[in-house]
Amino acid sequence: MRNSPDQYDKLSKAFHWITAGIVVTAFVLGPGDFGRIVDGGVDPATRNDIVWHESLGVAVFVLTLLRLIWAAVRPGAPRHQMSAWMFGLSRLVHFVLWALLLLLPISALLALGSESHPLTLLGGMRINVFPFVGNSYFSNLADWGEIHKLLGDVIIWLAGIHALAAIYHHIRLKDKVLVSMLP
Ligand code: HEM
Ligand code: HEM
Repeated sequence: MRNSPDQYDKLSKAFHWITAGIVVTAFVLGPGDFGRIVDGGVDPATRNDIVWHESLGVAVFVLTLLRLIWAAVRPGAPRHQMSAWMFGLSRLVHFVLWALLLLLPISALLALGSESHPLTLLGGMRINVFPFVGNSYFSNLADWGEIHKLLGDVIIWLAGIHALAAIYHHIRLKDKVLVSMLP
């Protein structure tokens, strides 16, 4: 795939914008009352918001793994002229966003496994038991449901700051940072 020095390649752009869209949709559908619903005897498979939330979240995980492989082998990402601190900060924010894209689904699986709740996905797919998660050392380490909710809030705040920074680059610094990721 061709990669001009000013632009991300098409696949990186597709990964970026599809992932961003899914993360925001999954956030909006986040089931705040999940524990109460399931403990009240409702099967989460009957709740569209939960099924869509979990399916989109799993899609984010798969997309992020594929995207990381692509990022390792792609021809090269654009390098923009900017001060050292700004470059360092942008790398740090990207690193934390990558980590959150993986930690959100992992924390959700730990939450479901430790509470013995099923994973319910689109198409009637369902996993009732997570053999390596339920009662494992990690699942008992924390309240993963609360951590998952917190990470969900953090990724939205950080992505918002990241988007504002990209717009600042475009409007005030008049460089090519934002344009390099636009379709
Ligand atoms: C990018 C991915 C994801 C984001 C941004 C996200 C975001 C959120 C947010 C913000 C909440 C809390 C909603 C509220 O309190 O109003 C939540 C709850 C929840 N999410 Fe996710 N989530 C993601 C992926 C997943 C995945 C992959 C699964 C399942 C495997 C999942 C399962 C759940 C469950 C079960 C809850 C309820 C937790 C509890 O109350 O104990 N999420 N999510
Ligand atoms: C949930 C939403 C978002 C997430 C998780 C996210 C995550 C990321 C990640 C991981 C990268 C590094 C990409 C790579 O190396 O291939 C990146 C780059 C970038 N993102 Fe986002 N992003 C989000 C939303 C946005 C939005 C809304 C904008 C613009 C308004 C934006 C603008 C950019 C730009 C311009 C770059 C390239 C920056 C550079 O090369 O220094 N992102 N984003």
